[in-house]
Amino acid sequence: MLSVRSVSKAYVAAGGDEPVLRDASLDLAVGASLALTGESGSGKSTLLHLIAGLDSVDSGEIRVGPAIVTALGDAGRARLRRETIGLVFQQFNLIPSLDVAANLAFQARLAGRLDPAWQRELAGRLGLAPLLARYPEELSGGQQQRVAIGRA
Ligand SMILES: Nc1ncnc2c1ncn2[C@@H]1O[C@H](COP(=O)(O)OP(=O)(O)OP(=O)(O)O)[C@@H](O)[C@H]1O
Ligand SMILES: [Mg+2]
Repeated sequence: MLSVRSVSKAYVAAGGDEPVLRDASLDLAVGASLALTGESGSGKSTLLHLIAGLDSVDSGEIRVGPAIVTALGDAGRARLRRETIGLVFQQFNLIPSLDVAANLAFQARLAGRLDPAWQRELAGRLGLAPLLARYPEELSGGQQQRVAIGRA
């Protein structure tokens, strides 16, 4: 399902390039879970951003299902993020002008797959049903995180 092959990535910095990932590889089967651990600054978010096509590798190959992410252009990567991959960011990136219900539905709406019954089910499972009319700034950190999880 997910395959990361010999991926390397450096950020270009003033004092020279900063290598973050060197020859990183992993495989993840359908239905499997994986926890990626490592000290702060070790490259976990960088790897997730590369897998989601938010940034591009210097070398190596990433496949998500049938898609070769590292071979996609901007439009293909945007489609992958809209239709295939959900991310919960460290800062939750909720849309401040939308209420909880609209934030929860946001990605499904973009993908043209909004299902109101599933949205209600999701809100219930995440304990967000009483909060659907609130705005992100009116939520606790954990509540904001659950909205981000539901959206993903
Ligand atoms: N846009 C950027 N430009 C330059 N350097 C960056 C950039 N983003 C991240 N870095 C650097 O790359 C390294 C890896 O960062 P990354 O965000 O992948 O770490 P992380 O493992 O997710 O850390 P944390 O556990 O603190 O979230 C860090 O040294 C960071 O300072
Ligand atoms: Mg991180």
